[in-house]
Amino acid sequence: MERAEDAVVVQTDPDGRMELITAGEKAGHGASVDFRRVTLKGISSSPLVRACGPKGALLDATAGLGGDSFILAAAGFAVTAIERSPLVAAVLRDGLARARAEPRTAAIAHRIELHEGDARSFIAGAAHEWAVIYLDPMYPVKSASALAAKPIRLVRGAVGDDLDALQLFRAAALSSCGRIVVKRPHHAESLAPGADLVFDSKLARYDVYVRHGKALRASAQRSES
Ligand SMILES: C[S@@+](CC[C@H](N)C(=O)[O-])C[C@H]1O[C@@H](n2cnc3c(N)ncnc32)[C@H](O)[C@@H]1O
Repeated sequence: MERAEDAVVVQTDPDGRMELITAGEKAGHGASVDFRRVTLKGISSSPLVRACGPKGALLDATAGLGGDSFILAAAGFAVTAIERSPLVAAVLRDGLARARAEPRTAAIAHRIELHEGDARSFIAGAAHEWAVIYLDPMYPVKSASALAAKPIRLVRGAVGDDLDALQLFRAAALSSCGRIVVKRPHHAESLAPGADLVFDSKLARYDVYVRHGKALRASAQRSES
């Protein structure tokens, strides 16, 4: 169980990688980003990639440690990734830099442009139109998430719960993106009503909201009521 005193910090591991780690824990036992470990076989038919639809410009508005951004870039999307936690963004930036220097991952990593900041204001201020806005906010857990993988526990320790996820959905719905894809745990209710498509994977569900004329704007209004 994460205790209040289990502060999450960023440090360099013995291999020179930045890692998220619980303060006081032995270096090398935290979560760093190493895209060489990502299995790319079969990604085009993965529920995440299918949920995101035709390849185009995609905003990953909840970048985290970049696992989903990397898969989407490998599948052919031009990914803009944004992360608001400076700790998490620093570890992802470090992993991306190494991936750009590695022949096997360079081309994919070059398709990811990372920004640090809050996606709500980023979307509202952007002149750019994305085909897809992808959201994977932290889902609040009631009890200790001992079953969650360590990187997820460390990111949660660094950022807490994303209790403003609905505001992020509304910002996305008010943009002119073609679709919004929201990743949710199987047991969780949808972030907003009216998903057009649902893709299930072993670990999560992807709720897809497709723009039909002004319909996404209507979703934003429905989610307010
Ligand atoms: C569950 S993690 C995302 C995991 C990610 N999909 C991956 O593959 O590693 C959620 C992340 O979204 C970030 N986040 C949540 N709301 C955000 C917002 N409005 N703007 C930017 N980042 C946000 C959190 O700080 C956290 O790092």
